[in-house]
Amino acid sequence: MQRRTAGAALAAVVAGSLLGCSAPFPPVHAAPDGRAPTVFAHRGASRQAPENTRAAVRRAHELHITWIENDVQRTRDGALVVIHDPTLARTTDVEQVFPGRGPWRVGDFTLAEIRRLDAGSWFGSRFKGERVPTLQQYLTLLDRDHQGLLLELKQPELYPGIERQTLDVLDRAGWLDPAHVRDRLVVQSFDAAALRTTHRLRPAVRIGFLGKPPVSRLKEYASFTDMINPDHRGLTRDYVVHVHRLKGPHGAPLRLNAWTVDDGPTAARLVALGADGIITDRPDVMRARHW
Ligand code: G3P
Ligand code: CA
Repeated sequence: MQRRTAGAALAAVVAGSLLGCSAPFPPVHAAPDGRAPTVFAHRGASRQAPENTRAAVRRAHELHITWIENDVQRTRDGALVVIHDPTLARTTDVEQVFPGRGPWRVGDFTLAEIRRLDAGSWFGSRFKGERVPTLQQYLTLLDRDHQGLLLELKQPELYPGIERQTLDVLDRAGWLDPAHVRDRLVVQSFDAAALRTTHRLRPAVRIGFLGKPPVSRLKEYASFTDMINPDHRGLTRDYVVHVHRLKGPHGAPLRLNAWTVDDGPTAARLVALGADGIITDRPDVMRARHW
């Protein structure tokens, strides 16, 4: 995050919202020293709408949040869908619709079958009828509202070749053009091998590693990742400094985004430690915060 004055940061926010467009990493509210975190709506605005659904993306947009995090997996017949768990049980009515098909793994169901599932009622009756979105549908919605995507390859070891396939879907949807790649897309994973593969296939795409590699290995990670995105617990100022000292594959200093941070005081502490971004289920709370 570049340093700038609070006035300049505020002007950028106002200009961004007037233009209705997303800046690469726009601040929400600037601190007195001009530094403010990027806020990522984790699985969308997932405390106010069912996670990883289009309703959660729309809610984040209503909150003026321009970065959305999601999770991508693959169906039995090869479609990419947006869902967090490796099974459909927690966030859909699969157990009622397909009894006897346990353990209801995402990869054991076709897209046509998954399209029949209700992915909203578990969260609240007013979300009845929400569906598990395909990645393609999800990208269309993000484009409509000029939002950016922190796309997580979820358990890529379950889905051989998902790196290339995800890039293909992004490409077909227009998400690998220079503007999207520069301003609106980051691919992240806990799986460093999948990220190396993604970087090798499309070196222009920004990459985020989910986790906290030891300081002694950060340089190695900086060869393929632009961001280190750790669990916020146990994060220290010293670690953040080490991350920021290195440059990623695109020549910019590594950034650090902490997850999952759902209360203002914790977020403020992390920003004071130097975190560049906050990945949160509560974008409403982060939005309201003055850093
Ligand atoms: O973006 C960080 C976070 O999504 C990693 O954990 O389990 O919520 O995908 P999880
Ligand atoms: Ca995730």
